[in-house]
Amino acid sequence: METVKLDYTAYNENIAANGGPGDWKGVNPFDPDYRINPYPGINALREADPINLTPVNTWRINRFDDIQNILRNAKTSQTLSSGLSPGFDPLDRRGSFLEFVLNKDGDEHARLRQMIVRSMNMKTVRAMEGAVIETVKEVMDKALADGGLDIIKDLAMVVPSRMVCTIMGIPEEDREMFDRLTAIRTNGFFARFLPPEVQEQLRQAGNDIADYFEKLVATRRKNLGNDLVSQLIISADQDGHIPDEQLAVQAIGIIVAGYETTIGLIGNGCRSLIEHPDQLALFRQDTSRVNAVIDEGLRYDAPIHFIWRVLTEPFEIGGKLLPKDAVLWLHIAAGNHDPLRFEDPDTFNILRERNANVSFGGGAHFCLGNQLARMEARHALTEFSERTKHLKINAGEIVWSPSFFRVMGNYPVTFS
Ligand code: HEM
Repeated sequence: METVKLDYTAYNENIAANGGPGDWKGVNPFDPDYRINPYPGINALREADPINLTPVNTWRINRFDDIQNILRNAKTSQTLSSGLSPGFDPLDRRGSFLEFVLNKDGDEHARLRQMIVRSMNMKTVRAMEGAVIETVKEVMDKALADGGLDIIKDLAMVVPSRMVCTIMGIPEEDREMFDRLTAIRTNGFFARFLPPEVQEQLRQAGNDIADYFEKLVATRRKNLGNDLVSQLIISADQDGHIPDEQLAVQAIGIIVAGYETTIGLIGNGCRSLIEHPDQLALFRQDTSRVNAVIDEGLRYDAPIHFIWRVLTEPFEIGGKLLPKDAVLWLHIAAGNHDPLRFEDPDTFNILRERNANVSFGGGAHFCLGNQLARMEARHALTEFSERTKHLKINAGEIVWSPSFFRVMGNYPVTFS
């Protein structure tokens, strides 16, 4: 995988020229160093300013209960009343998330969501399980013969990339292209705040991915198969009014949403276990705990750190009345470490009783791929932990991915 370094110098200079970067209160998610260890800063922010107005005029909601309250009770939209997205780059048009289910409200959202659920559901998860088992076994056979592996490239990436491409009917030889394109496209969600060179890279990746998927939809239309794209076409035709371009965008959105995030879940989960040998030992003693390990991994180091909503009516939260059109960033990473919700929240504890978290979002847009991601992680984490039982794992240095999500670019480990 090509690791593209995000250089924010131009962005910071640009902001400085326009009055300075403002006070991010120690938590600037656009600062590349943010990834190294954001949690002490996030904790301090939540304690000092639970409802925090950022320098880019968005409200960060840092408490777990406040996030839940908004997801359940606030009247919100994914877009501003002007119709613009609060986070997307307006020039990022092709392959963009504008027409993706996640960016839609009300009836249009419900219709697209239904269409996707008809095509991707528990039946899909069950159909893919055998292939996931085979893939992780193959990966671990090779890793044990080699004396190590790169957790990201050899395991965390291979599993979701094979699964999502198989589901879509994308041939093996095209998979590598998506390793790069999907990572870059995750920057689209908050591209307005990113430096021009990242926006340019994003638009280019958008063109490439749209070219690919528009062709794929056209090909499948002529010759329907058993894959998700064909299912989406059939489902859309039942509804009768979804243009092919919008269909292609659903497929692109699903591949981006389903790929990077799952790399994050498996990668961050393995890292948390490796860095907490006592917890890894507990897991090895009883691998039927795997679901608890997944939930704790998602809570402790979530693949997505924040999501957005726009208020369509004023809403009172944490003693503040936020106005209509206020842009909210629901700070998942802060909520998941909120001591009012979780005891000793900065400890990775797979035996934690109360581990339900907000890493898959909540409310109308609750993640549609959560069961698929969980199934992939169940096999990857179990196989890795069981088969390295008698080995000492030496973890190498982390390189971050060009993704906007919290995803490592590589994480080599050797066994001795
Ligand atoms: C660990 C892995 C994953 C994480 C952490 C994750 C996280 C999320 C979150 C936080 C949301 C809600 C966003 C919001 O409310 O603004 C979401 C929505 C969504 N996710 Fe996931 N996701 C994961 C895996 C997947 C997979 C594997 C797929 C598909 C193959 C997928 C497809 C979707 C879709 C289509 C939506 C939009 C649903 C809607 O708008 O109604 N996700 N995901």
